[in-house]
Amino acid sequence: MTVPPRSLVGKRILLVIAGGIAAYKSLDLIRRLRERGAEVRVVLTQAAKEFVTPLSVSTLSRGRVFVDLFDLTDEHEIGHIRLARDCDLVVVAPATADLIAKMAHGLAGDLAATVLLATDKPILLAPAMNHVMWAHPATRANMATLAARGVGQVGPESGELAEGESGAGRMSEPLAIVAAVEAQLGAAAPLAGKRALVTSGPTHEAIDPVRYIANRSSGKQGHAIAAALAALGADTILVSGPTRLPDPPGVAVRAVETAREMLAACLAELPADVAVCAAAVADWRPATAGEAKLKKDGGAPPALALAENPDILATLARHAHRPRLVIGFAAETDDLIAHARAKRDRKGCDWILANDVSTGTGVFGGDENSVHLIDAAGVESWERQSKDDIARRLARRIALRLNEAA
Ligand code: C5P
Repeated sequence: MTVPPRSLVGKRILLVIAGGIAAYKSLDLIRRLRERGAEVRVVLTQAAKEFVTPLSVSTLSRGRVFVDLFDLTDEHEIGHIRLARDCDLVVVAPATADLIAKMAHGLAGDLAATVLLATDKPILLAPAMNHVMWAHPATRANMATLAARGVGQVGPESGELAEGESGAGRMSEPLAIVAAVEAQLGAAAPLAGKRALVTSGPTHEAIDPVRYIANRSSGKQGHAIAAALAALGADTILVSGPTRLPDPPGVAVRAVETAREMLAACLAELPADVAVCAAAVADWRPATAGEAKLKKDGGAPPALALAENPDILATLARHAHRPRLVIGFAAETDDLIAHARAKRDRKGCDWILANDVSTGTGVFGGDENSVHLIDAAGVESWERQSKDDIARRLARRIALRLNEAA
């Protein structure tokens, strides 16, 4: 059995357990946090008591469990304001739709909600609920409000739910929550020691020495992903086609022009732990780009014969030194999810981020994006947000995955 790292020594976590079936996993979460050296205090909602008992929680946490505001009125007891602030991080697991709604609206009708309103410490939510409740516009709006306030989030995962239905809504596993806690507390840069390879930008494919075929990719999403991975401690290499963007901080940039150069530059950087192919690589190149400029000689316009470019994503996904996690993008204008799923299979990558680039979405070249993360388990739709926020969320997901079975 591997000994867990003592990554949370001296950290004080206030764990709020709300009433949902996933509360049973929170008992294991307490154990995992304590194994890593954290002190854990627990607040249970009244509903949570239906799922786990204060006795089991206090046995595991080795501390008092707080349930009612009235528990805290005695002068000799810790007050609710102190309870809310005497910690480094507040973790809400499971975060139910009800408690999320209370937080978003600033309600303080019970101890858990009061503590969440009174705290001045960072908050991390591990949502858990039925997939229809998770997808409901009310929950979407509440989560967006909380995200805008800087509240962190881990999960939920997609899969089978307690009611026998399946979809997004399952609480993250305790170890994934622990990794998010470590990341949030900066306990260890979650991608330290990991190597990341990112492609970005368009490629330019020469027609002759002065003309080329290109596309409208700005490179913003790929560059943001490289920056976010580096910020989490990854040794990050960005292989980029021509863009107008500055090099992201802390990232080693390899500038290329063509798809074939991009492939060669990527292969030269293997092995890597994760590859994110965000470049809009030209599928075809002029088959015979000569040394001489094509002349307009009054005759018929020249016919452009095209040759197929190598597929960098598919090559990396099937390489002998395949990165453990290979991620691609699918920019589609119709039937987004179906096409993206098929692309994931065809290319052999682990995750596809599907985005709608039809006219009017403003995604190509714009600052915002709305993506769907497709993996073997299903589809998770992320609300429209800035490319920087998508990059940070993706980087956190990558960190969770790479640290899972490490
Ligand atoms: O096939 P399509 O271009 O739609 O696939 C998009 C995904 O494949 C993106 O992740 C892109 O970076 C990658 N790709 C690649 N090499 C190509 C074509 C696409 O890496 N030649």
